[in-house]
Amino acid sequence: MEIILHGSTGAMGRAVTEIVSGGKHSIAAFVSPEYPENAGRQYVKISDFNGKADCIVDFSSHFAAKDLTDYAAQRGIPLVIATTGYTEEEMDMVRECAKKVPVFMSSNMSLGVAAVSDLAKRAAALFPGADIEIVEYHHNRKADAPSGTALMLANSIKEVRPNANIVTGRSGYGKRQPEDIGISAVRLGNEVGTHEVYIATQSQVITISHRAQSRSLFAEGAISAAEFLIGKPAGFYGMKDLIG
Ligand SMILES: NC(=O)c1ccc[n+]([C@@H]2O[C@H](COP(=O)([O-])OP(=O)(O)OC[C@H]3O[C@@H](n4cnc5c(N)ncnc54)[C@H](O)[C@@H]3O)[C@@H](O)[C@H]2O)c1
Repeated sequence: MEIILHGSTGAMGRAVTEIVSGGKHSIAAFVSPEYPENAGRQYVKISDFNGKADCIVDFSSHFAAKDLTDYAAQRGIPLVIATTGYTEEEMDMVRECAKKVPVFMSSNMSLGVAAVSDLAKRAAALFPGADIEIVEYHHNRKADAPSGTALMLANSIKEVRPNANIVTGRSGYGKRQPEDIGISAVRLGNEVGTHEVYIATQSQVITISHRAQSRSLFAEGAISAAEFLIGKPAGFYGMKDLIG
């Protein structure tokens, strides 16, 4: 598989490059507006590349949503979007693109987080009156808060608690409401990514947590998602499709 790596000079772009190098796949084009690191194969914009490619893997910025989705749709290339922080307007662009090519999107490419999401949902259903709070920890360079993964976990729990309100960055005066799913974002040092889901009744606290110890976890997940997309019809795919 020949991959266009979108966001190639970032922390995740480097992790993908490392995973791919020496393996069965190769990188056809590195895309990043930053200083060229991959002589002759790095492009400032994705539209600058018109060579052969089987899939696009994106770990960049949601600000690139239009260029990215237009390009994938026009060239008919399957697209894996791992970038977080998409606005509703940008999500509309992704949904339009998914009418023309297969698009895989997940705020967290790790199978472990998919398992945590499922467990948290089941625990929330078992304890309908319990308070639910999510705490996420990431490195101090992360652009968006709360993390896409924390929102994904909250939305997964919302499937069994349709009246829940997702409350982020709580502050000031006022009590927690029973239907709140609170999310707190902590930013410190070089933390790769930890998510803790608390489910608390008056007599017990259940904690379900996931700690990423290396960025390669997400890079491997994105490559698995790209392999999964090859040969699939146009449509919008996610982690649930990958793990079956
Ligand atoms: N889904 C997951 O599992 C997962 C895991 C880790 C990070 N992420 C997300 O991936 C994204 C990148 O993370 P990172 O830690 O590598 O960030 P980073 O800031 O280290 O790197 C971002 C990269 O995107 C490039 N970029 C910025 N704007 C661009 C544009 N308009 N067009 C093309 N390239 C552009 C930058 O030059 C850089 O190469 C973030 O949104 C992050 O939240 C997702």
